Amino acid sequence: MARLADATPVILPTSIFENFLLDSKQLESKLNEKSRLLILCSPSNPAGSVYPKKLLEEIAKTVAKHPSLLVLSDEIYEHIVYAPATHTSFASLPGLWERTLTVNGFSKASAMTGWRLGYLPGPKHFVAACKKIQSQVKKLTLLHLQSWGRNQNGQLGLGTTEDSLVPLKIQAFQGVSIKLVAAAAEHTAAVTEDGELYGWGWGRYGNLGLGDRNDRLVPEKVSLVNVCDRNDRSY
Ligand SMILES: Cc1ncc(COP(=O)(O)O)c(C=O)c1O
Repeated sequence: MARLADATPVILPTSIFENFLLDSKQLESKLNEKSRLLILCSPSNPAGSVYPKKLLEEIAKTVAKHPSLLVLSDEIYEHIVYAPATHTSFASLPGLWERTLTVNGFSKASAMTGWRLGYLPGPKHFVAACKKIQSQVKKLTLLHLQSWGRNQNGQLGLGTTEDSLVPLKIQAFQGVSIKLVAAAAEHTAAVTEDGELYGWGWGRYGNLGLGDRNDRLVPEKVSLVNVCDRNDRSY
């Protein structure tokens, strides 16, 4: 994501001895006038660590010293927390709402992965800027859908569970125009130019929308749903 935005990602390593939590001093040592966005994830995937409020307050103090630094706080697991841990939303800390974009969605707490519904609470001007990009991304039509990377659940749609180090064409979409792709960690969904919905990858929770809990290594059409009427411009 950082590279797509022409930014240079700086990865801060964490360790099991600190519960995979970021250290605010280490964060401070990596920040400079070029730093634009701190990405936090609490409760986190994959480590499951939950940032205690006190640590978030320390991180907030560090963030406050860097006026051009914004924070993207992924809190999609906020309701999947076990005592004694409690969830604190970074934007709820004093002075942080103005600088924080909170990422959330219905996939985890409401087991609604197949719905592809997420939300981004944040200051109006940032959300308006995100909307501009999102509306354009949605309008793209892809003629050759390609996929690469981790493929443990067949979510690349390539017919195998082998990871792919290079982009490969998804054969099932040869010659088909794709309007929208939603890729999650374990499964993927796509809508074609003709308004047909496809799902593939991990299906344990019915998240492919195909009426069962089976995995699919290649895209399969969700036949029950008429995703959009081509003449209806409101979608
Ligand atoms: C930390 C985190 N954020 C966001 C997401 C995206 O969830 P979805 O694409 O199902 O809305 C995931 C999915 O695994 C996740 O682990």
